[in-house]
Amino acid sequence: MWILGIDTSCDDTGVGIARDGRVVSNRVASQTLLHAQYGGVVPELASREHTQVIDGLVELALEDAGISLRELDVVAATKGPGLIGALLVGYTYGKGLAFALDKPFVAVHHLEGHIYAALAEHPQVEPPFLALIASGGHTHLFEVQGWGQYKLIGATLDDAAGEAFDKVARLLGLGYPGGPEIERLAREGNPEAVGLGVPLKDQSAFAFSFSGLKTAAARAIEKGFRRADIAAAFQGVAVEHLASVIARAVKATGYSTLLVAGGVAQNRALRERLEDTNLRLLFPPKGLATDNGAMIALAAWRTWNGQGNALNIPAQPYLPLAT
Ligand code: KG4
Ligand code: ZN
Repeated sequence: MWILGIDTSCDDTGVGIARDGRVVSNRVASQTLLHAQYGGVVPELASREHTQVIDGLVELALEDAGISLRELDVVAATKGPGLIGALLVGYTYGKGLAFALDKPFVAVHHLEGHIYAALAEHPQVEPPFLALIASGGHTHLFEVQGWGQYKLIGATLDDAAGEAFDKVARLLGLGYPGGPEIERLAREGNPEAVGLGVPLKDQSAFAFSFSGLKTAAARAIEKGFRRADIAAAFQGVAVEHLASVIARAVKATGYSTLLVAGGVAQNRALRERLEDTNLRLLFPPKGLATDNGAMIALAAWRTWNGQGNALNIPAQPYLPLAT
């Protein structure tokens, strides 16, 4: 079965194709440079750019797969959450395409896309397991109790993890997105040289918090600490915070498998820290960690029951995966 997946939830246009659950094309048009000059995503510009590039990306994806439009069996697109103007471009495009081809349309939750991306190279894994989704917009810890059954057990009380990387990068005069920039600068720094405090040190639950850490980094910048040391300290505390909440959740649930998804899953320091545990780790392969369309095709492959059509489901900017 050939599934076309589309994601335009934020600032990257993603179009991918999966054949029987295997990725055969993953085309992403990045808008990073477009938004870089503003230090963050400008929603109107994102929508306009999606509109301009989506058609060309679909053609490229079909070329990669070596098939024609008519050979697609299903069209899937992200229904939410995300920036509504941006979401609507890919979602409406996908619906129109499915309708014109007389093929089923599947509406996919963006976070399910991230989860299935991390399973791309582990098709044999079965729930239950823990899933951390850490991106620019989300820091959520789920219990995946069964396919399509998610229980939210922890979330950020303020900023998302990726958002904190982006904000601190901006304060340090680094580019956007900030995660990779901080990671690079941190390699030249000494994390012990700056004390930034530990978020939610005494909690017994599974919440995350990054805004205090961000403020502590801002103070350290004002005080004139070395930029590389601040980057190293910030990354160190952020990684340790994520790891310690996960450790508590592992202890409470007894699960031994952890899936890590979203842009922050690309962070080497986080991977190395988690590799030091006894957990069986599931990370997305390169190219599937940040937003893309192939993950939407993978999610549709795993979750669609082979029936029905989501043409009447609206796009939803606010859409919890589970409560
Ligand atoms: O999943 P994603 O592409 O888009 C969202 O849905 O948000 O995640 C992007 C986020 C950005 O905040 C970016 O700074 C962060 O992921 N990120 C990283 C790294 N690479 C990307 N954060 C830390 N370390 C990285 N290497
Ligand atoms: Zn995402």
